[in-house]
Amino acid sequence: MIDTIVLSFVRDLLTVIGAVTVMVIQQPVLSLLAFVLGPLALLGVRFLLGKVRLIMEMEMASLVEIIRVVQEATTGFRVVKSYALEPLLKRDMDSAIRAVEKRSNAISRIEAATSPLMETLAGLAIAGAISLSAVSIFQDVQRPGEMISFITALLLAYEPAKRLARMRVQIESNLVGVRMLFEILDHPIALKEVPDAIDLPAGPGLIRLEKVGFGYAGGPAVLKELDVTFEPGKVTALVGPSGAGKSTIINLIMRLYDPEKGRVTIDGHDISKVTLASLRKRFSYVGQDPFLFVGTVRHNIALGAEGASDEDIVRAARAANAHDFIMSLPNGYESDVGENGRNLSGGQKQRITVARAFLRNCDFLILDEATSSLDSESEAGIRAAVEELAHGRTTITIAHRLSTVARADKIVVLDGGEVVEQGPPDVLLRNGGAYRRLYEFQLLPDAGLESPTQSALG
Ligand SMILES: Nc1ncnc2c1ncn2[C@@H]1O[C@H](COP(=O)(O)OP(=O)(O)OP(=O)(O)O)[C@@H](O)[C@H]1O
Ligand SMILES: [Mg+2]
Repeated sequence: MIDTIVLSFVRDLLTVIGAVTVMVIQQPVLSLLAFVLGPLALLGVRFLLGKVRLIMEMEMASLVEIIRVVQEATTGFRVVKSYALEPLLKRDMDSAIRAVEKRSNAISRIEAATSPLMETLAGLAIAGAISLSAVSIFQDVQRPGEMISFITALLLAYEPAKRLARMRVQIESNLVGVRMLFEILDHPIALKEVPDAIDLPAGPGLIRLEKVGFGYAGGPAVLKELDVTFEPGKVTALVGPSGAGKSTIINLIMRLYDPEKGRVTIDGHDISKVTLASLRKRFSYVGQDPFLFVGTVRHNIALGAEGASDEDIVRAARAANAHDFIMSLPNGYESDVGENGRNLSGGQKQRITVARAFLRNCDFLILDEATSSLDSESEAGIRAAVEELAHGRTTITIAHRLSTVARADKIVVLDGGEVVEQGPPDVLLRNGGAYRRLYEFQLLPDAGLESPTQSALG
């Protein structure tokens, strides 16, 4: 845009202004003629501009559609192949490409149409100017020199004026992209630091949710008046049915969202009053779906722990039960994990993300189903390492496995965004409440034990 404006617009505009000044000085009456026909031509171009804007907007949407299809086809290739979705994707892609083609053609037609229109009008204007000048020379009203200088100025103004008219079309189509960009930039930021935010002071690490109410983007309430405490240096397990709000609690603690009601505090400090960087650097997080970045295994483990030495990386990988499989990869720690970690198995990816959290070595350890796609043996290995790591840290773990849940210091049972029960595992088991039911119907059968009631009673 800036390139077009500075190079063409400024130069052409100055030329046109200069030439028109000469025209007016030489032949005020004849210039009038040019000024009547000129705006007429511009009017025609204006009419086309509205169309260009509309078409460009649609073309952008089609381009986005093409990118979406490509992205889905590559990241979801397993689903695409196993469900034989190729014809479906091909159809989507064909229609997206056809839409772009149609729109590009329409724009080219408009661009082409502006030029004959201008040409014709300009031709008429020049012919008219020459005829009238000829008449006035024969009548001795003006001298031939004046006429020549007028016509020269007119001809000089013609090309730049034509370019200016066309440029409107170009600028208009570029503006569509600029407008979209600013729409994003102007979008208000929902999560802001307060102006006088302080760094979160170091402390024992007590996390508290106080009467927290929350729903995603104006949707239904996910958490209702929730009061939970995560004791410093202790392991708290969040359990409950799918959709109960377990991951949502974690999102609020790391301040990925702000609660609608109530507040979240760490060692008594409201986390909405502290700087985001000082808050987030206290957390090691392993999420529900392991996420790897393009690059090597080493790169993925060392992320978020700047300046980690090779020994530290290997130690973290060992703790996460990942060192052995990493060494069996063709290039060891330098092996490429591929896009979205596609060169690795689900459990391998998970172990790398656990190693990443280990290396980061923070006050708060958050594990959202961090061992769900591991076999029992790997899980046992990681569990030992997590226990070691959780030592002296406030740990929150969301787990479906009995082995993890039963070893927690405290269990919080959630259902429908509310705490239905909380306390140490053995106490909850004796109470015979929600945890006991979860234990018998989900945790024990998953663990593969035979007689739930008997082993539950120990
Ligand atoms: N980003 C989001 N936007 C809108 N709604 C969401 C979002 N994330 C979660 N939800 C909704 O919030 C509710 C709680 O989700 P949450 O992820 O906390 O459940 P969960 O307890 O972690 O479940 P699971 O055990 O299946 O992981 C669900 O009803 C879900 O549909
Ligand atoms: Mg979840």
